[in-house]
Amino acid sequence: MCGIVGYVGSDKALPILIEGMRQLEYRGYDSAGVAVAEGGSLTVVRRAGELTKLEQALDGNGMEGTLGIGHTRWATHGPPTDGNAHPHRDCTGNIAVVHNGIIENHEALRAALQAEGHELSSETDTEVVAHLLEGAVAQRPRPLLDAVIEVIAMLEGAFGLVCIHAEQPDSIIAVRKDSPIIVGVPDGSGIVASGIPALLPHTRDVIPLDNRQVAEIKAGSVSLFDFDGEPAEPRVVHVEWDISAAEKGGYEDFMLKEIFEQPEAVRNAMRGRVDLSGRILLDEVSWDADVLNDITKIVVVACGTSYHSGMAAKHAIEHYTRIPVELDLASEFRYRDPVLDDRSLVIGIAQSGETADTLAAVRFAKDMGAKVVAVTNVVGSSITRDADAVLFTHCGPEIGVAATKTFLGQLVALNLFALYLAQERGAMAEEKVAETIAAMHELPAQIEEVLALHDDIQRAAKSLSDVSDVLFIGRGVGMAVAMEGALKLKEISYIHAEGYAAGELKHGAIALIEEGVPVVAVMTGPSLYEKMMANVQEVRARGADTILIAPRGDERAKALATELFEIPLTKPLLTPILDTIPLQLLAYYAAKERGLSPDKPRNLAKSVTVE
Ligand code: G6P
Repeated sequence: MCGIVGYVGSDKALPILIEGMRQLEYRGYDSAGVAVAEGGSLTVVRRAGELTKLEQALDGNGMEGTLGIGHTRWATHGPPTDGNAHPHRDCTGNIAVVHNGIIENHEALRAALQAEGHELSSETDTEVVAHLLEGAVAQRPRPLLDAVIEVIAMLEGAFGLVCIHAEQPDSIIAVRKDSPIIVGVPDGSGIVASGIPALLPHTRDVIPLDNRQVAEIKAGSVSLFDFDGEPAEPRVVHVEWDISAAEKGGYEDFMLKEIFEQPEAVRNAMRGRVDLSGRILLDEVSWDADVLNDITKIVVVACGTSYHSGMAAKHAIEHYTRIPVELDLASEFRYRDPVLDDRSLVIGIAQSGETADTLAAVRFAKDMGAKVVAVTNVVGSSITRDADAVLFTHCGPEIGVAATKTFLGQLVALNLFALYLAQERGAMAEEKVAETIAAMHELPAQIEEVLALHDDIQRAAKSLSDVSDVLFIGRGVGMAVAMEGALKLKEISYIHAEGYAAGELKHGAIALIEEGVPVVAVMTGPSLYEKMMANVQEVRARGADTILIAPRGDERAKALATELFEIPLTKPLLTPILDTIPLQLLAYYAAKERGLSPDKPRNLAKSVTVE
């Protein structure tokens, strides 16, 4: 996600902030800003775009202050503009705040603040915090620490926060709730950041805040408190890693890190979109009931991995809503003379939001009068400008070229959207929606269980490293998983792989099966289980090595498997969210086994802006 840096000490803060922000650049960002305290006031400079844009704006600015905070922002609420960049200030301009995460109740807080006369100038969720602090500090006046402890009790969601007050220039207050904050106090100074790389040029002894802790950082000291203001003991960790290892959080590659971030990615994709009773609130698609009821058909357009999430979404939307769904490769869509009108809804899926074919498909659909919903991970991306509504996946930046966590984020967003349509059109009983949502809440823990299979998957990947072809088969939503598994393998290990509808085997692909050909079969879907069993038996009888993705405790699958990966049980339409993970890891470890770099596969790009 975004990057936070703060400094208090005797040196000039600005160069230290910029250096720290550089160390966090790898995380991805789309705007940046700093606030430095000097002579009882704050100077704030913010720019959309690269850090160099901010540096140009700061050139000759001569900020001398020794207290400051900086931020690289990955937009979540409001596009990446100068005005939405952090730090955000209160009405007095004396308090500055930077924030990672999402304040879920920001709309209600914003309304209350505006009713009290506060003037908010950005579209962000973060700005409310600065104005809440203004009220809390002004009450007596009193230390920023006390005001922060009062204000965080009003916030819902996830927040790594760092705040300063121009009139209290000896301290920085930092808060960790579900978003990392790390402190260091080297050589009579105090540094705080959202990632260890920003601290490493200054110290290897770091203090990671525990969840729900607040830190008061001064030059050379730090005091920790819980959310009730009770003191807590700091825990010092000595970091042995170098900077590049620290960027990857101890993982060898970004792709592996991002695969392991998937429990969090799924949590973030659901955050704020479901109420306690299991009802779905998708404010983003705030269309009148008439518009939602009027939809007669849905067309999903996407490329690559996003196409596979669309394939799974087709099953979910049709099942939940009974609205017919067509699925198109975005590159094919507008050349097939599709039938669309103003009662059609087109869903364009693109993790980057920039894929040229998907943008063209979406524009074409708009020209034909269709409504467009975009599903993307990048706020402010081109697709968000062309769409009537946008569902963000909120996965945080994905650095690895091959999509992993954004795929799971798409599956979650699309399932929520399908359920939302069913809920709003009355196509599904409320209890049924709530039951499915309850199953979705289980997913992060279940993903952890699947990730725990990584050693077994790594071992299985060894046997794939010298094969020339692998077949992936599945049925129903399992076919989308099979196709995604094959794409992952070919993208990063360069092993030829085919994703196939298992029922189609007998019409051609079975001719490829001979002794030792690996066949990966996705067989967790209960209704098609027997049919998958028959297909697995067919390929085994011809000598295939079978790698089975099967429901946990399935003895029959065990008997037929060369390798077996057992998956926790979930609702059939949610199985892709779990079943894809072993296939991502299989591709990753096969690539490593072959000495390849999974983060940057040859000939591929993260964002494909040409047709
Ligand atoms: C590139 C990436 C893939 C991605 C595809 C579509 O090929 O390497 O991982 O699935 O683009 O990207 P999009 O941004 O449209 O989802």
